[in-house]
Amino acid sequence: MKHRIADSTKRDMEVLMLVSLIVGPMLLVLALLLQQMQRSSSGRKSRIPKGNNWTLPFFGETFNFLKDPHNFHLKHIARFGETFYASLFGENCIVVTTPEASKWVLQTAQQSFRPGYPRSATTIVDPTETIYQPKFHARMRKIVGSTLNPDALQHYVKYIDSVARISLTNWESNRIVNLYDEMKKYTFYVALKIICSLDPGSELEEMALNMEKVKDGFFSLHIDLPWTRYHSALKARDALYKSFKKIIDRRRKESRRYNDILEDLMFSDEPGQKFTDAQLQALVLSLLFAGYETTSAQLVWTMKRLHENPDILESVKAEHDAIRKGKLREDSLNWEDIKEMKLTLRVIYETMRTSHLDVFIPREPLQDLEYDGFLFPKGWKIHASISAFHLNPKIFPDPYKFDPSRFEDGGPPPNTYMPFGNGNRRCLGSEVAKTQMLISIHHILSNYRWEAVGPDRGIQWWAVAIPKGGYPIKVQPR
Ligand code: HEM
Repeated sequence: MKHRIADSTKRDMEVLMLVSLIVGPMLLVLALLLQQMQRSSSGRKSRIPKGNNWTLPFFGETFNFLKDPHNFHLKHIARFGETFYASLFGENCIVVTTPEASKWVLQTAQQSFRPGYPRSATTIVDPTETIYQPKFHARMRKIVGSTLNPDALQHYVKYIDSVARISLTNWESNRIVNLYDEMKKYTFYVALKIICSLDPGSELEEMALNMEKVKDGFFSLHIDLPWTRYHSALKARDALYKSFKKIIDRRRKESRRYNDILEDLMFSDEPGQKFTDAQLQALVLSLLFAGYETTSAQLVWTMKRLHENPDILESVKAEHDAIRKGKLREDSLNWEDIKEMKLTLRVIYETMRTSHLDVFIPREPLQDLEYDGFLFPKGWKIHASISAFHLNPKIFPDPYKFDPSRFEDGGPPPNTYMPFGNGNRRCLGSEVAKTQMLISIHHILSNYRWEAVGPDRGIQWWAVAIPKGGYPIKVQPR
């Protein structure tokens, strides 16, 4: 009896294998044909840009892209031209790589596009799926923009200075620190202070751990099952939301003024336009995410570039020594000092040009659009690849040379340099990001020398590009 069951199971397995051997390839061919039909049926008057015709169903060229997005872009430009088709992350994408086309997507035709971030990312941040709607988006920009403009920022300099010092207190002689981890802590604390007046402490460490899980879910598959990264990101998001809700509830009962972004979002009412608590939680999370990871990655790149360019490092140190002169060790930096850091700022700009922090900015056309003879079909993903034109020799001669003097005398021509994006979604935190970076670099250079530990291992791409391994360094007092 046992044998008979075993035999019949074996037979079933064989039949199943035979069927899958025949049906599997048929399904694959069908999927490829469907992919082709979908592409060609969208082409009406104008045409879909050229790209690889035969790629894996669903995965397309994703693996190739993830290995090295910049190289992927360069190879496709050489083969298909500056606007090309690619199948990425299970979606049809058109990649634009010139400043002109990027400006068209991000600015000139901005009303015809919506953000094209992965579904996992948007549903994790905002389950209400409302904060990116035009009405709420415009309101958020008005409020956050007024808190983060350079005039309003001045009163945060002292605080950012003190967090920068605290974040360096455990940098003892000969210690090996992972610069990315250190800078993430610093930028996270600054962001939480500016957004909702929280001070460093154990509660923030817990929040930082949850933030990491949230970030890991952003580029995961949109599948909510107990073992998926998306699921764990949702749980971490809920824990963060709980913390934000406590703060919101407390604020409603208090009469104290905080002068921070959360207060402005909660109380600067225009009739009929109040944010709900769920929206406030989503806004705080999206601001936190927008601010801390990008700035910390950029700080790591800047320190790396300085180390690779000793002459520039010496000139930057001299700039900071001059600012320190006449100050006591405990004296905080002020806004005038920040404005004196002109060379350091050029170094930051040049680092942003060369480090392709944001590989591309994603959008989705709200209707079929045409540009430069190409069709941009409704619902497809459009990637504005800023890193491609930041390293284009026609725009930046000798593009891989690190040369901060490119940013002297007004810098590159308008709309050729967009590290903070462009148009109605341009970064609202660019000034605070620059101020944070300048202050941190000031304290590191004034107090330490460092050397990289281990060989240069290339780039780690997600969610932002950083040196692989996070750039471990050995520090010595100066
Ligand atoms: C070096 C650091 C940073 C870089 C490279 C950067 C880059 C960008 C880019 C490229 C965008 C445009 C995204 C798009 O068009 O879809 C953006 C948007 C944004 N950034 Fe930043 N960012 C940085 C730091 C910050 C900081 C520190 C904050 C705030 C504390 C911030 C807040 C925002 C916000 C709120 C938006 C969304 C604006 C909107 O949707 O209207 N960013 N950022």
